[in-house]
Amino acid sequence: MKLLVISASLNPGSKSRHLAQAAVATLAENAIPHDLLDLRDHPLPICDGGAAYGAPEVAIVSRAITDANGVIVASPIYNYDVNAALKNLVELTGKGAWEDKTVAFLNAAGGSSSYMSIMALAGSLMLDFRCVIVPRFVYTTPHDFGDDGISNETIRQRVADCALATAELTRQRLKH
Ligand SMILES: Cc1cc2nc3c(=O)[nH]c(=O)nc-3n(C[C@H](O)[C@H](O)[C@H](O)COP(=O)(O)O)c2cc1C
Repeated sequence: MKLLVISASLNPGSKSRHLAQAAVATLAENAIPHDLLDLRDHPLPICDGGAAYGAPEVAIVSRAITDANGVIVASPIYNYDVNAALKNLVELTGKGAWEDKTVAFLNAAGGSSSYMSIMALAGSLMLDFRCVIVPRFVYTTPHDFGDDGISNETIRQRVADCALATAELTRQRLKH
């Protein structure tokens, strides 16, 4: 069983990257096999439904998702949705990479009102690719972070709980 943690923000000062790193730390502490995919390390073409699928970086990120049984996605909220970089990743990799994965979400937003913004992506993964969505969502605002990362211990615990729940659900589903 292997999990993939995706950090989807392209912002060098990203807050959701701290969430991804906290999830990675929990998985490491619990000896749960995992990889980290940071989209800043993999510049991707914009999906055009055609030639972009053939870009070498697309094969790399596709392989990383395909090789995982479960995925923890840490992303910004932009315009009441996930950021375009994450949506683009899903468009480029599609069913071949995502089908049947267990997927969890960790989000960084600017305010509390956008807390349902993840539902469009969650619904799309669920309906299109038969992903099973972990019913533990971590939604954060700037109040949850200090200069060194996550400052709210409740959030840190919620990320850990989400990471462990993702591992457990992924494991259980592999048994069936
Ligand atoms: C283009 C853009 C759109 C945004 N839209 C929203 C939004 O709809 N709702 C919200 O709460 N915050 C919004 N924000 C604030 C970001 O969610 C916030 O800065 C968050 O920390 C971004 O994640 P990151 O730090 O991991 O990059 C937006 C920020 C940008 C740059």
